[in-house]
Amino acid sequence: MDLRDKVILITGASGGIGAACARELERRGARLALMARNGEALASVCGAGALRIAGDVTKEEDRQSAVAETVARFGRLDVLVNNAGVGLYRPTAEVDMDAVRAMFELNLFGAVRLVQLALPHMRRNEGRPRGVIVNMGSIAGMLPLPWFTLYSSSKFALLGFNEALRIELRHENIGVMLMCPGYVKSGFQDNALSGRPPDRLWRMKRFATDVDSVAAGLARGLEKNSKRVIIPRLGWLAAWRNAFAGPVDAILAHLNEGYRHGE
Ligand SMILES: NC(=O)c1ccc[n+]([C@@H]2O[C@H](COP(=O)([O-])OP(=O)(O)OC[C@H]3O[C@@H](n4cnc5c(N)ncnc54)[C@H](OP(=O)(O)O)[C@@H]3O)[C@@H](O)[C@H]2O)c1
Repeated sequence: MDLRDKVILITGASGGIGAACARELERRGARLALMARNGEALASVCGAGALRIAGDVTKEEDRQSAVAETVARFGRLDVLVNNAGVGLYRPTAEVDMDAVRAMFELNLFGAVRLVQLALPHMRRNEGRPRGVIVNMGSIAGMLPLPWFTLYSSSKFALLGFNEALRIELRHENIGVMLMCPGYVKSGFQDNALSGRPPDRLWRMKRFATDVDSVAAGLARGLEKNSKRVIIPRLGWLAAWRNAFAGPVDAILAHLNEGYRHGE
């Protein structure tokens, strides 16, 4: 897909990976609609041509107005980037079910509903592809991570949705791409609904990927009509986990050892 003049709606665009994607796609000539709850933070992302929509992906009226405002401003919608998401670091036995539901509302159901709202507009487009859905998965949605089991579950669910949706929409020439970042330097860990990562992981944050690399990967993936983008490339090892489940699980258990969530 040639990104010039494409109309792209990005959720969770006020900071972190979403804002970096917005800047990268703007550089490549796309026209952008940016959504997040914090309107003030959105104001500093991208130039004056971007449409900014202060809204919550978990609220139906906000989802509807995000898509409607995008189409009203630009006359079309080519790409939906379901990026907004949140973490939850709690052991399964203790996790608050309201928090689990809130996380799934954002990480899965909000994304599904936005796809429903975006599809009728993509179906009106000409060209191959007529539109693309991008879902922000995670390595945690390919490799089960024990320090945030329920978050991992939400991203596995998103992966299942993504993969089936791609086949469902194939005959309509609407692409579906899964982004799978690994450990990324952003506010994600601090913004978690509850808990914090294991100390061993915190100490490794300096080795984490920067948001601009994820954004460049997303833009390249769209240009090449990719099905899945994994950043960093080492993350592809996660795709082979099932073949090596024993040793990989032992490494994950070691990282998780002695970890008391939230202490
Ligand atoms: N950082 C990582 O290590 C990592 C790794 C793999 C995957 N991911 C995924 O990448 C995505 C972005 O994460 P990030 O690292 O950029 O985290 P972040 O820095 O916490 O940014 C999250 C973004 O989502 C927005 N957001 C949160 N709740 C929202 C809601 N209810 N409605 C609309 N927007 C909402 C936030 O803005 P407002 O607060 O203004 O709404 C913010 O713009 C998530 O889906 C995350 O699961 C992150």
